[in-house]
Amino acid sequence: MIPPDINPSTTLNAYIRDYALAKGTKYMCQEGGCGACIVTVKRINSATQKQETFGVNSCLVPVYSCHGWSIITIEGIGNRRNGFHKVQLTLAGFNGTQCGYCSPGMVMNMFSLLNSGKNITMKDVENSFGSNICRCTGYRSILDAFKSLASDATPELKRKCADIEDLYKEGKICPKTNEGCNNTCHKLYNKNNDNLLSDISNISIKMIFNDNTKWFRVTTIKEIYEVFETTDTSTKYMLLAGHTSNGVYRIGHIDIYIDINAVSDLHTYTVDPDTGNLILGANVSLTRAITIFKNMASEKPDKYAYLEQLANHIELVANVPVRNIGTLAGNLSIKYNNRNFPSDIFIILEAVKTKLTIGHITGIVYEYSLQGYLQLDMYQRLIINIILPPYDSSYVYGSYKIMQRAQNTHADVNSAFLVKVNKNDKFRVLETPNIVFGGINTNFIHATNTETYLNGKQLLNISVLKEACTILKSEVKPDSINAETSPLYRQSLAVNLFYKFILSLSPDNVSTKYKSGGTLLERPLSSGKQDFQTEKLIWPITKPIPKLEAFLQCSGEAEFVNDIPAVQNQLYAAVVLTRTGPGLLDNIDTSLIKNMPGVVKFLSAKDIPGKNIIISYTQVEIEELFAEKEIKFSGQPVGVVIATTQQIANVAAERVVVKVNNQQKPVLDLREVAQSGDKNRISIGATKPATTKKTDIKLKLNGSLLVGSQYHYTMETHTCFCIPTEDGIDVFSATQDLHMMQNNVAAVLAVPLNSVFVRTKRVGGGYGAKLIRSALVTSACALASNNLKVPVRSVMTMESNMEAIGKRFPMYGQYEIAINEKGVIQYANLNTYSNMGKFFNDTICKSLTYFGPVLYEDNVWDYKCYAARLDIPSNTYCRSPGSTEIIALNEYIMEHIAHEIKQDPVSIRLANIKQEHYSVISTLIADLKKNSDFDERKTAVDTFNNKNRWKKRGITLVPMCYAYDINMKYSVLLSVYAGDGTIALTHGGVEIGQGINTKVVQACAYTLGIDMNMIRVTSTNTITAPNNSGTGGSVASDSVTIAVIECCKILLQRLDPIKKKYPNLNWKDLINKADAEFVDLCCEYMYSPIVIPRKYNIYGVVVTEVEIDLLTGQHQIVRVDLLEDAGQSISPLVDIGQVEGAFVMGLGYYLNEKLIYDSNTGNLLTNRSWNYTPPGAKDIPIDFRVYFRRDVPNHLGILRSKATGEPPLCLSVSVVFAIRNALASGRKDATGKDEWFEINLPYTPENILLSAETTIEQFSL
Ligand SMILES: Cc1cc2nc3c(=O)[nH]c(=O)nc-3n(C[C@H](O)[C@H](O)[C@H](O)COP(=O)(O)OP(=O)(O)OC[C@H]3O[C@@H](n4cnc5c(N)ncnc54)[C@H](O)[C@@H]3O)c2cc1C
Ligand code: FES
Ligand code: FES
Repeated sequence: MIPPDINPSTTLNAYIRDYALAKGTKYMCQEGGCGACIVTVKRINSATQKQETFGVNSCLVPVYSCHGWSIITIEGIGNRRNGFHKVQLTLAGFNGTQCGYCSPGMVMNMFSLLNSGKNITMKDVENSFGSNICRCTGYRSILDAFKSLASDATPELKRKCADIEDLYKEGKICPKTNEGCNNTCHKLYNKNNDNLLSDISNISIKMIFNDNTKWFRVTTIKEIYEVFETTDTSTKYMLLAGHTSNGVYRIGHIDIYIDINAVSDLHTYTVDPDTGNLILGANVSLTRAITIFKNMASEKPDKYAYLEQLANHIELVANVPVRNIGTLAGNLSIKYNNRNFPSDIFIILEAVKTKLTIGHITGIVYEYSLQGYLQLDMYQRLIINIILPPYDSSYVYGSYKIMQRAQNTHADVNSAFLVKVNKNDKFRVLETPNIVFGGINTNFIHATNTETYLNGKQLLNISVLKEACTILKSEVKPDSINAETSPLYRQSLAVNLFYKFILSLSPDNVSTKYKSGGTLLERPLSSGKQDFQTEKLIWPITKPIPKLEAFLQCSGEAEFVNDIPAVQNQLYAAVVLTRTGPGLLDNIDTSLIKNMPGVVKFLSAKDIPGKNIIISYTQVEIEELFAEKEIKFSGQPVGVVIATTQQIANVAAERVVVKVNNQQKPVLDLREVAQSGDKNRISIGATKPATTKKTDIKLKLNGSLLVGSQYHYTMETHTCFCIPTEDGIDVFSATQDLHMMQNNVAAVLAVPLNSVFVRTKRVGGGYGAKLIRSALVTSACALASNNLKVPVRSVMTMESNMEAIGKRFPMYGQYEIAINEKGVIQYANLNTYSNMGKFFNDTICKSLTYFGPVLYEDNVWDYKCYAARLDIPSNTYCRSPGSTEIIALNEYIMEHIAHEIKQDPVSIRLANIKQEHYSVISTLIADLKKNSDFDERKTAVDTFNNKNRWKKRGITLVPMCYAYDINMKYSVLLSVYAGDGTIALTHGGVEIGQGINTKVVQACAYTLGIDMNMIRVTSTNTITAPNNSGTGGSVASDSVTIAVIECCKILLQRLDPIKKKYPNLNWKDLINKADAEFVDLCCEYMYSPIVIPRKYNIYGVVVTEVEIDLLTGQHQIVRVDLLEDAGQSISPLVDIGQVEGAFVMGLGYYLNEKLIYDSNTGNLLTNRSWNYTPPGAKDIPIDFRVYFRRDVPNHLGILRSKATGEPPLCLSVSVVFAIRNALASGRKDATGKDEWFEINLPYTPENILLSAETTIEQFSL
């Protein structure tokens, strides 16, 4: 039953969440890029008439296209009441969750795979998670969990999986009851019970909606033409297949939807017996095309061997759920409508001279080439078939897709080559070849000059090769495209890919040194190792257990703010942003939304009853909630639209026109600002002067390092829900800092603090984004709720979240150092500039001077840290803020010294290290060197580099000392209940995925000597934890753990007299007795750093090895060995997860993640999952080993432990040095020189390729 008010653009996701009220399925990007929304579909395939099961992104699927489908959501496979599904148990048991926001999507993707009817191998698992982003875990645990369910799982994984099943299934512990299992688990989902609506899947449907939008579900091509007849040129219609193109370019309003999924002729395939042509229905899905191609290639390799390569290429298109419903014709149509779209399908089909049959409303069907199709007027036309010819073995085919990460992003450049050759005559070209490129410019398809030149020439002739590459270079003229890679890179890449293709033709005829250039980087299955200690005697302390919330996270039952059930009269809010700045606000034009159905009100600065501010109490400079007169930067909020649904509010917010006068060119370049010395933009933020200057100077070095920004990429965007109450306002904010939100809301609404009650159960990823900066959506939502006196909810879109909210502080560091003969620093002058964005409110400079002078002999280091003002939103804290950037600069300097005096970087580090750290660090280095076979591998790397011209390897070892110091306060309120003796506690920290509740419960159970099952942690709020610090800096878990231990001590003290009186009572009876004797069973304690100071050093060492491809700039991380000093970890699995997650977040920072702004408007161009690419499952180290330092209880820490959330991120800079080592070898081969070089971070394929100094002259065979 579908409620009548659902319109055709309502997605399956919106339906599941808002109408079926099943909140387990999440969403974030709404464009197929993050996987939070994956559900399982069962349907009858219209072509095969067979049942099929697969995963889809529910955010891309219009709910009306699900006709005849059976949808299985996370709730349908298992839950706390009926038992968890094996996939849920396994993910939880392997500790594959942290914040848990990605977990339901992960589970459903795996569930879909396992039910697809295929034999799922570990390789399939690794290849199938490009669809799902997890920002917390670093993926290793998730991959291990799911690989344990694969048919070829290693015995170790299988055993672990069986252990988890046994533990939760066979009567030991049931996570839903915490008691012995009664074996009812796994009974919820039963394949055989699937109620497939097969009998109605083939019927035609017509629906007309209130706004005259029409939905036709057709079953024949004839019916499509009949619908065409009802259109005229003003009608916007869409042939709806997978509807996934909405994830690439937003589709916008459609008048007529023609759902063609039941048209079997568009989904079948056949082989023409006369020509041997493979004739595919145009709307065969990409997944099915892969299967068909692979089958054809293996059945008749003499004709269709090339189809195997086509299939391999399609496996790099999008991700599994998108490919499951996205179709060939749909993809070609995106190219037809947007010529800049680097369609992979178009280039691979064009290279093999594919023909399309296209039918017209008149019934006439013609055959067209792909290029002919691009010239055609497609109005009232339909692609019916895609025809691929057979090719015998005289044809050679190759294709490439080069992208910013391993999976699930579009090509920077893609290419496909088909050449008929005489293999016995040095691959002489026998007819005009096909050389096709995508991603070059709007019109570029074929390199026609190169094609003409090559006809008749020998491909394996070095002078032909060089001439062809020179011609190719001259005809490939890439456009400059917003948010895309540079023209120079794409031109070089095109030439290099052609060279790579030639190298691949006959490896035996290529000299050994160049041979490896003929392949792309080959990534084997990844694996991980975790080494930690546990001490059974003191369990649950040190016990390796999954996060307490893991099972509920994996069943979708863990509630996030946007999962709180809707209440009566509830409305939705969306902030309106400027899309240009700086300038003066001229006018906010709301005329376009005045009569828009569903829009309730627009509020701007003038509607704010209190202060128009965003940060109320730590504010150094006034930051307006909504701009009043001056627009400071693009992305600045000017108001909020309130509407009846979030979708309407979002659309309306986009329709508000913000007019800006006196627009100035935004200042966006930190380096330029730093070098300008402009006092209006730069001010000194902190200093740490040198105390001495040594004079044994052999060499002076200068250099600089620019480390960029990073979007936090929380899978839950900024979200808030406000409910007016008789006491004031209840604020459910996804924030790391409740006290800050309470203050902001009170200031904006001009109400007393005690009328604002803020609550947070958990957040779906924070990493610092939700400290101060949750204030925008929280204040806007509270304003809307207060104004209309109704509950209001607001969930930011990914785009507005990225545009409006600041990110990691980029840092530009300049250094001048002097060293002696041994590389010991005599003096070091460092000037760093932090890009604060527009305001100086979130401070960073002090962190730089705090974390900088820690590891090395700092009496000679002089730090000056400047704050720089740029015209972008105020930047903010991001996991390991300040420490990441300044440690990167320190280590960069060590590498520079080592390079200049040709010494081993490790010995330079040891030569400069502070005496107090020398013994620890040198021992850790020695241990890790041994464990990682560092010396042998370094030799192997050198040998590899000598033998290979185009592939290079690099290995590096980097130490770390992170100075940890708690300076925040957190409360705990602990209540024990007479009756059963159970405990509920609430604390001032926020569960952001770091496992705070798990550690707190372990510590509480340990201190009281009771079972963990007796303790429950409830949400954080501003009544029981008033005036508390925000959760960040890896300090909350520690501090709250201390507070809970102190609470327990208070309780034990109160219980002591009763215990003495009744020495043999068990816990429950003791509590009952205490209650009867009027003992207060509710304790409160606030951790204060003044009462219990905590200050210690966290050590770490990492060895990182990489391989890069100089021809494409791509890289992969071969192995990481990370030795972390976690003290005596309270919760080793939780801490391992923190280490892996932090390290992988750092990899993204240094390798993948790039923010690009429009230089004229200041608008953030990389604001989508389509163009901002954090690491995916196949970007992590292939071999990822984490070791915890052994036998080192930390007596300055809580229960002898150390913090783990942030420090490991600092170690990820090792990947930069490993890549530099590899690159240095390539540059030396290219230029004969071994010079120190500076290249921009992040080390994207673009920056690596452009730094390799490769020229056509160096090409050889
Ligand atoms: C996250 C993501 C990543 C992606 N990555 C890549 C990538 O790396 N490389 C790449 O090449 N593509 C990529 N894509 C694009 C993807 O391949 C396409 O979205 C998909 O193939 C479109 O097919 P569809 O059936 O969903 O089309 P729909 O969205 O249903 O339709 C798209 C258009 O095709 C028209 N159309 C459909 N069928 C016909 C027909 N038979 N005749 C005429 N017109 C027709 C429709 O009218 C509509 O205009 C990505 C997409 C997403 C969402
Ligand atoms: S919300 Fe559907 S993929 Fe991101
Ligand atoms: S656990 Fe995956 S995003 Fe947080």
